[in-house]
Amino acid sequence: MPTHTFVLNGKQVTADVEDDVRLLWVLRDVLGVTGPKYGCGINVCKACTSHINGKAFNPCSVRVADVEPTDEITTIEGLADTVEGDLHPMQEAWLEQDVAQCGYCQPGQIMAAVAKVKQVKAQGREITDADLDTIRNVCRCGTYVRIREAIKAGAARM
Ligand code: FES
Ligand code: FES
Repeated sequence: MPTHTFVLNGKQVTADVEDDVRLLWVLRDVLGVTGPKYGCGINVCKACTSHINGKAFNPCSVRVADVEPTDEITTIEGLADTVEGDLHPMQEAWLEQDVAQCGYCQPGQIMAAVAKVKQVKAQGREITDADLDTIRNVCRCGTYVRIREAIKAGAARM
């Protein structure tokens, strides 16, 4: 069985899996990191949204063989470790706005939000409603109004 190595939430990890297994299943089933959720498996719902080298991506659409040993994957489990304090400011905003309903989509929503705010800040801008419209993560509970408020509140502290 081929061996695949990459950096997961700040630690080097190795998985013995076939090359064409998608990263989402390596994270969840082999490495036991279940924050990235399995919704569609085909890069549509965005429930699995995590970060690769600081950018949002969907691990259900990436073969494990396409991840390099130096690639840094961050899931919701490792998000708080990227900042000072116990929680990431976006997670704090989420709690304050009481965003989650069933919660299933929420790890992906938060990871998408953080990546989008970072992208916008790198352009020297504040986040706008047009930016929020580009986040395509599906929430079957319909928490979109609270998500948008939380992203704006979290962005103000990032
Ligand atoms: S499970 Fe990855 S996008 Fe739906
Ligand atoms: S909170 Fe239930 S799917 Fe979004």
